[in-house]
Amino acid sequence: MVAETLEGAMKQNTMFDIHKIRKDFPILSRTVNGKPLVYLDNGATAQKPQSVIDVLTHYYTHQNSNIHRGVHTLSREITIAYEEARKTIQLHINAKQPGEIIFTKGTTESINLVAHCFGNLAVSEGDEIIITQMEHHSNIVPWQQLCKEKKAILKYIPINEAGELVLDELPKLLSSKTKLVAFTHISNTLGTINPVKEMIATIRSLSKAAILIDGAQAVPHLKPNVQDLACDFYVFSGHKLFGPTGVGVLYAKEEWLAKFGPYQTGGGTIKTVTLEKTEFADGPLKFEAGTPHIEGGIGLAAAIDYVNAIGFDVIQKHEEALMTYAAEKLSAIDNIRIYGSSKHKTSVIAFNVIGIHPFDVGTLLDKYGIAVRSGHHCTQPLCQFYNIPGTIRASFAFYNTMEEIDLFIEALKKSIKLLS
Ligand code: ALA
Repeated sequence: MVAETLEGAMKQNTMFDIHKIRKDFPILSRTVNGKPLVYLDNGATAQKPQSVIDVLTHYYTHQNSNIHRGVHTLSREITIAYEEARKTIQLHINAKQPGEIIFTKGTTESINLVAHCFGNLAVSEGDEIIITQMEHHSNIVPWQQLCKEKKAILKYIPINEAGELVLDELPKLLSSKTKLVAFTHISNTLGTINPVKEMIATIRSLSKAAILIDGAQAVPHLKPNVQDLACDFYVFSGHKLFGPTGVGVLYAKEEWLAKFGPYQTGGGTIKTVTLEKTEFADGPLKFEAGTPHIEGGIGLAAAIDYVNAIGFDVIQKHEEALMTYAAEKLSAIDNIRIYGSSKHKTSVIAFNVIGIHPFDVGTLLDKYGIAVRSGHHCTQPLCQFYNIPGTIRASFAFYNTMEEIDLFIEALKKSIKLLS
């Protein structure tokens, strides 16, 4: 059944040759503790294809210079490349214009930027912001801080045992005081895919709130269409999308950017400066203070080109087959509890071995070359809901194989035996 699904997926796109694809990722052929690396920590960060590594090397070997600041050839060339990268991202997520794409350090900085600028513009005492119980800390803490500063109120949509949002609660939470609703597209801990379009329709019909979607865990698995979603903000990191660390994206509707004051200030954000005052630049540059992560931006564009050449339809089919296979194998082991059973779920399995701490299992798995994440995954409120300190989390990418899942299951059985 699973093999048929995988074969079907492969047949649909002859470009999807898993063995060829794995050769594009040099790190996948290394060993760890004398065993072949089985990398199942893609939710924390994804591996990089050679094409991305080449872009970084090429930048330092042939292109290194600063952008937006020079009339010399190197500076002009790399400025064009960086702005082309912005355009690649714009087209990838179907933003209206490149000016709606702001380069940041990552998802966390993107959310902090919105919390700061939106908070200063639109949030006052008594206003309300809504998040969910399954958010990553980076989509909780900035809102808590903002609410503390402004004396605003933070509310949340609860989750159920299956790890889904209890959406019946959403209309009850919304009011004329709701200024912003922020929620994740896909849960980093459970893999639940939230019905974002349905949620946006509910929010729009009952309030004037702005909407921020945390796409950090979604972008490796699907191609968001921000105009179709009609969200105000969509944020993600480069490193989970097979690109470099230290670079991320804030998509913001142009109308917000025109109204926002600056976030950080300094070189690059200005039109004119006198000793008395500053006139700020228009568009994304106003929000990109200092020399940015230039090679990160062009490396992220290369990563986007890479995944698009494979195709998200094929990626999704392969990942679904991996998930189904892994869940079947895991469920067959005694004393395993899997968290999150939504029908709409992708590429993540969070579980515990009853009676054994997730860190102990993760540490032993590493001895067999298996990389998983153990802990609370920066979602302590979600773990508090399940009354657990954390979980073991296996998270898959399109370069993972069924054979790797077999190795993971075999190592898990051995680890449980040693720990019992
Ligand atoms: N947010 C990343 C994760 O879920 C680091 O592991």
